[in-house]
Amino acid sequence: MKIMMKYLFVLSVLAFSLGQNFPSADNYLTDIHRLIPSFDQTNQYDGPASISSAPITTTINVTKPTREEMMYYNYYAASVDSPFEVKTMDCVYCPMVKDDMSQFVVFDNSTHDTSVLVALSDKRKEIVVAFRGSINIWNCILDVYYINTSPDGADHIKIHKGFYIATMSLYDRVVEKIIALRSTKNKNYKLVLTGHSLGAAMARVTQFLFLHLNQFPGITMEVYTYGEPRSGNKYYVDFLNSQNVKTSRVTNRGDVVCHVAPTSIVGTEIVTEFYYHALTEYWIDGDQEQFADQSTYEDPNLSNSRGPQYMPIDHFSYFDVNYMRMAADLHEWLAIPGVLHPVDVFPPLPKPIQSWLSDLSDKIVARSKDIRFPIVKPLLPYSP
Ligand SMILES: *[C@@H]1O[C@H](CO)[C@@H](O)[C@H](O)[C@H]1NC(C)=O
Ligand SMILES: *[C@@H]1O[C@H](CO)[C@@H](O)[C@H](O)[C@H]1NC(C)=O
Ligand SMILES: *[C@@H]1O[C@H](CO)[C@@H](O)[C@H](O)[C@H]1NC(C)=O
Repeated sequence: MKIMMKYLFVLSVLAFSLGQNFPSADNYLTDIHRLIPSFDQTNQYDGPASISSAPITTTINVTKPTREEMMYYNYYAASVDSPFEVKTMDCVYCPMVKDDMSQFVVFDNSTHDTSVLVALSDKRKEIVVAFRGSINIWNCILDVYYINTSPDGADHIKIHKGFYIATMSLYDRVVEKIIALRSTKNKNYKLVLTGHSLGAAMARVTQFLFLHLNQFPGITMEVYTYGEPRSGNKYYVDFLNSQNVKTSRVTNRGDVVCHVAPTSIVGTEIVTEFYYHALTEYWIDGDQEQFADQSTYEDPNLSNSRGPQYMPIDHFSYFDVNYMRMAADLHEWLAIPGVLHPVDVFPPLPKPIQSWLSDLSDKIVARSKDIRFPIVKPLLPYSP
């Protein structure tokens, strides 16, 4: 009976979350709208008038992957999003990658509710590091008032503090594992970083740290992100764009997470710095898919063209993966610090409830293409 009550409670919170499209973010938006009513009348959030459309004048050395590569590593990102099942390769999307793996390990940091899968594939001659996403992404993103300098004090480079902390919570163990996996035999294996949502930001920050600290000199690196939020300033992005890395930032329709952290607050960098995205966006818009133009930081004609009507629901479908299915695990959905932390309290749901929730989420994803809610737009135009 007690267990039943707990599940009922969890289900009602989940239903509320789905219905509200992330309550904490909504409250945040509502508060800002109340404070600055003219937000709604401008379109400078990340549209053509914003910093995101500024031309790139620095060296671009990144290369674009193939669609097959983007689809493949999405399965890794999806696998690690099932926090428990991934440990036994029992998750929904694990069959897509598990036969390629020679060995793997999952590291968690329960303090920060972060998790990473590090896998060795002798078959594909690669080491894959996949970071888990989380509903905590809103807590991380809303931490916009704090920006960290990079570790060695390169003052001009700024990284979003929430994402930096999340990355550092796993960093040492990830580095040690990669060192261990790169025995003499595997020295030439490439290193692939990937993740969805918060995991995408962590993959990006990890990419930055590996390159900036020259953690693995000469290593071939590839980075694939899905639903990635912005994680740093212009100098951070200029540095990333100048590196010889095969990478893409996959965006789906009007996925709201790809448009936060805001490029700016109220169109100024008084409160904080402007946030930028690293190249190169690959936009999935129904049957249409394409890479972004590389002349500007963000291509105003791809996902940014959907602004300011961005949608939380678009955050959950990338290629053939439905990330909402992972809601069946509930744990990551509800692990909002300070509100409730059910990871230790609730055992995994019984299978029938899990599959019922999966079916439900499929239906929600299928039906919700037209649900939209406005996102914060800053007041002042960007003038370079
Ligand atoms: C979790 O992250 C914190 C902050 O980075 C770190 O101090 C702690 O050692 C980490 N825990 C584990 C188990 O690595
Ligand atoms: C980037 O490209 C330029 C010009 O092609 C080259 O000189 C430079 O070494 C490259 N930098 C990196 C980090 O690959
Ligand atoms: C966006 O589309 C417009 C109209 O087709 C075009 O003029 C402009 O160059 C495009 N911008 C970029 C960055 O590709």
